[in-house]
Amino acid sequence: MDRQVNITPQDLDAEHAITYPVEAFLSKEYLEIEKKALWPKTWQMAERVEDIPNVGDWFTYDVADESVIVIRVKEGDGPGTLRAFHNVCPHRGRQLVDVHPGTHDSRGSNRTKFICGFHGWTFNTEGENVYILDPDDWHGALHPGCTGLTPVQVDTWGGWIFVNMDPEAEPLIEFLGEVDRILGPYQFEKMRYKWRNWVVFDCNWKTGLEAFMEPYHVAGTHTQLLAYGEYYAYSKQYGLHGVSGFDERDSDKREIGGSSSTMRAGKGEDARISTYELTRENWETVNNASTTWTLVEAARLLQEELPEGTPTGEVIAHWFKRAKEIDAARGVDWPELTPAQMTEAGLAWHIFPNMSVLHGSTYALCYRTRPYGDDPDKCIFEAYAIERFPEGEAPQTEWTHGEATLENWGSVLCQDFSNMAAVQRGMKSSGFKGTMPNPHQEQKVTNFHRNLANVIGRGHVKLLDR
Ligand code: FES
Ligand SMILES: [Fe+2]
Repeated sequence: MDRQVNITPQDLDAEHAITYPVEAFLSKEYLEIEKKALWPKTWQMAERVEDIPNVGDWFTYDVADESVIVIRVKEGDGPGTLRAFHNVCPHRGRQLVDVHPGTHDSRGSNRTKFICGFHGWTFNTEGENVYILDPDDWHGALHPGCTGLTPVQVDTWGGWIFVNMDPEAEPLIEFLGEVDRILGPYQFEKMRYKWRNWVVFDCNWKTGLEAFMEPYHVAGTHTQLLAYGEYYAYSKQYGLHGVSGFDERDSDKREIGGSSSTMRAGKGEDARISTYELTRENWETVNNASTTWTLVEAARLLQEELPEGTPTGEVIAHWFKRAKEIDAARGVDWPELTPAQMTEAGLAWHIFPNMSVLHGSTYALCYRTRPYGDDPDKCIFEAYAIERFPEGEAPQTEWTHGEATLENWGSVLCQDFSNMAAVQRGMKSSGFKGTMPNPHQEQKVTNFHRNLANVIGRGHVKLLDR
């Protein structure tokens, strides 16, 4: 097997044209290698911290052949408040808690111990074995190292719980690298779930995730949005992770001030009107996500509060100021972000391997995909919105299974969904020679494959022949 990976971050920065083989999406063998070399070896987001607020609250995070139990053992946010274990009894390998096919996860509360359903071995919430029937039958061979649950590393960032099954893994903060510096100031930990949906799609987990990795598809997939905004984009690698953001075709015109994000002016002569139309359109068609009601309302007021002819920069500054006031009055603070910070943070991030975050000052629209069983043509797709709410006013939500209907997901996400199975089928054609992501606008996708190839030693990216 060729383990040589020649494409470097510098190749991506130089915007070389790059391709990679479709086996990453189609091959059962590739999926088997991911099971061994990816999922048990990398940090990955398991759930939001807010989902297990009380001591004894727990859930399973299930990916490929792995199942991990995460449980809260102490109050608060610091290290040592959560524990994670492989969901398997060390006796004869029964899953300790059942995870039923077709469900999102298993979860519960008030746990003080886990009792295996097969022979009754029992474990406390530290994973220590506290009961074995007839231990003397082992003639002294049993010891805590073999009778306890196998620990999994667990840490939190931005209000998300991350796990890593590799005991030798680098700390989460090192894994996140520049993501922490650039996105940390958004304080995602202050946001709470607004809605969360999941569904199984007929495509590989990477095909599903990549449908949301770049705005290059907007002109072809969401044609109706072209009436409201420009969608030319850049993308950029940050080591394992990557970002995309709105851009100008003429680089001299690029503005500092958050114009790369969802919080930007719309297209049109009068920025007061176009900003309202763009924001309202996003609200109505992206399932009330990728913006907030406050931003829609503040944008609506622009025409009343500003004279015709106000320059775009002033319109945006007024819009932000007004939205902050509206939010302050209802008890929602905004993070302190400079225009330069917002520009660097761009529109949306891919956090390796399977997490996508499209963010604004007070909200984020996020996606995650996971493989589904042993089928490379299927994935579990999840999307969720988080937002800053006034204290105590966050809605009660749970993972809701929702088929890909307009009613469940809104029109924009349904348009994205319509590409997924079609891409998966198309890549099987003998007439398809390999993907050719746009070196400027889709570099984030290429970087994902560069890193995946590095991690699992297969499916290498290479320069596109001229
Ligand atoms: S498999 Fe768990 S107690 Fe036997
Ligand atoms: Fe899209």
